[in-house]
Amino acid sequence: MKTVIVNASPRKIWSSAQILKSALKGAQEAGAETEYVDLYDLAYSGCRSCLACKRHGIANPCRCYWKDGLSPILERVCEADRLIAASPVYFGEPTAGFRAFLERLAFPALSYDNYLTSQYTGSLDIAVFLTMNVNREFYDRNYAEKMADYFMPFRFLNGKLDLYPVCDTLQVNDYSKYDMRVFDGGHKKELYEKEFPAVLDLAYRVGKGE
Ligand SMILES: Cc1cc2nc3c(=O)[nH]c(=O)nc-3n(C[C@H](O)[C@H](O)[C@H](O)COP(=O)(O)O)c2cc1C
Repeated sequence: MKTVIVNASPRKIWSSAQILKSALKGAQEAGAETEYVDLYDLAYSGCRSCLACKRHGIANPCRCYWKDGLSPILERVCEADRLIAASPVYFGEPTAGFRAFLERLAFPALSYDNYLTSQYTGSLDIAVFLTMNVNREFYDRNYAEKMADYFMPFRFLNGKLDLYPVCDTLQVNDYSKYDMRVFDGGHKKELYEKEFPAVLDLAYRVGKGE
């Protein structure tokens, strides 16, 4: 079992990263071959529309042919059984880095012969943790449906797709040091201490494949 773990937050020690480190531990304990990637360490772009993946007779139509810092990661994701990712929500969507990753991974798999079938020959199970400030009620009312649409291209990777919203996250350690009056720092800290451990446990179990 090969599991690639992708952090799409620019921050390497905050909520998304903590969740993924827990998933990594679970995957390692289950004996998976693992790789952990911080996307924001890499120099890459979204799909460049070179359309090399749609050329007649191309050796491997389900691979992205554009070469940059993401290429080796995409190669390994395409050979993996599982992708576990986490992204903060920025202005109602996953981060720009995550979007670019999604385009590069999913577009080669999409068939332009019919829009329906996949050119991807493997099967990649994908779990995505979405971390955000809004509470669960707001997520269910305003984000859930659009996130399901947003992640639709991952269907072309032929595996399971599971989304895990993680709401009301702690954004800074000390809210009194910032102009962030819309947030109740005390409440956020309390949620982090009381509820976030259950999120880490969930991530651990996802990593383990339970
Ligand atoms: C540029 C920016 C935009 C954000 N937009 C939203 C948003 O639209 N909705 C939301 O719930 N949280 C938003 N947030 C908060 C982050 O999603 C939240 O703090 C997240 O848990 C950060 O993840 P990290 O701690 O792993 O970096 C935004 C944060 C930043 C920096």
